[in-house]
Amino acid sequence: MDITVKATAKLNLALDILGKRDDGYHELETVMAMVDLADYLDFSLRLDGNIKLESSSNAVPEDGRNLIVKAGLLLQRRFQVTKGATIKLDKKIPISAGMAGGSSDAAATLHGLNQLWELNLSLDELAEIGAEIGSDVSFCVYGGVAMCNGRGEKITPLPSLPPCWVVLAKPAISVSTRDVFSHLEVNDIQHQHSEKMLAAIASGDYYQMVEALGNDLEDYSLEKYAEISYLKKQFEAFGADAVLMSGTGPTVFAIVKTEKKAKRLYNSVSGFCKNVHMVRFLKPQFE
Ligand code: C5P
Repeated sequence: MDITVKATAKLNLALDILGKRDDGYHELETVMAMVDLADYLDFSLRLDGNIKLESSSNAVPEDGRNLIVKAGLLLQRRFQVTKGATIKLDKKIPISAGMAGGSSDAAATLHGLNQLWELNLSLDELAEIGAEIGSDVSFCVYGGVAMCNGRGEKITPLPSLPPCWVVLAKPAISVSTRDVFSHLEVNDIQHQHSEKMLAAIASGDYYQMVEALGNDLEDYSLEKYAEISYLKKQFEAFGADAVLMSGTGPTVFAIVKTEKKAKRLYNSVSGFCKNVHMVRFLKPQFE
């Protein structure tokens, strides 16, 4: 029997860098939320023990460099699984975009293979294994809206966001996560975006939420990549209530209150950017 799992994209509504750690990672506090833009993964059982990935996009590797294959191999090793799987990936989330597409695929793989191989692992166990694959994978295992601490793997679930519409756009450039983190001047940063965002979410007030949007990684990218600052300015000019780069970028997203405004933004930005999506935040599953 085939199993299909949806892997959704995330946006960072707030991202604070708290410091640099001895292990090379950055200690951070970030509020992440899933949106309804997703890859689909289809799992079928193989008895030869191999993990075979077939991707709809030739822009992602199908070997051990892909986090999907890494997740499968990790589960096999950890639980002495002798079965394998064929995994078909229908790729829709822009690649290297700051939307955790690869991490979400890995989380979906943990969910899919947990079912396919009848491992009976809990959500918390899957999230713990996910943290070994990448900093964003634990959040992707839970989904919804959450505050994430540590290097991103310590998750505190949050309630739904105030109703709104999101238009996101990925400029045609690739940004390396490692590069953005390595250029941070940690001592200069004293923002408290996440704290403000938590208060805004608790209040349920749309305007408080858009006021609280902020990302410590944005300044470096706006300066380095003209494409990101251009996109941000265009979104602002076309009437967005707030605009922010997600994660390490280069995706920029705009928030508006009504569908009509979102359609207008979508149409305007589609005039010069190919990779534009109009989406909504997903409700947390456990609310
Ligand atoms: O954990 P992940 O493999 O996604 O991280 C990719 C790279 O991003 C790390 O090797 C590190 O350079 C940087 N990073 C960081 N601090 C974090 C998360 C990622 O410096 N909290």
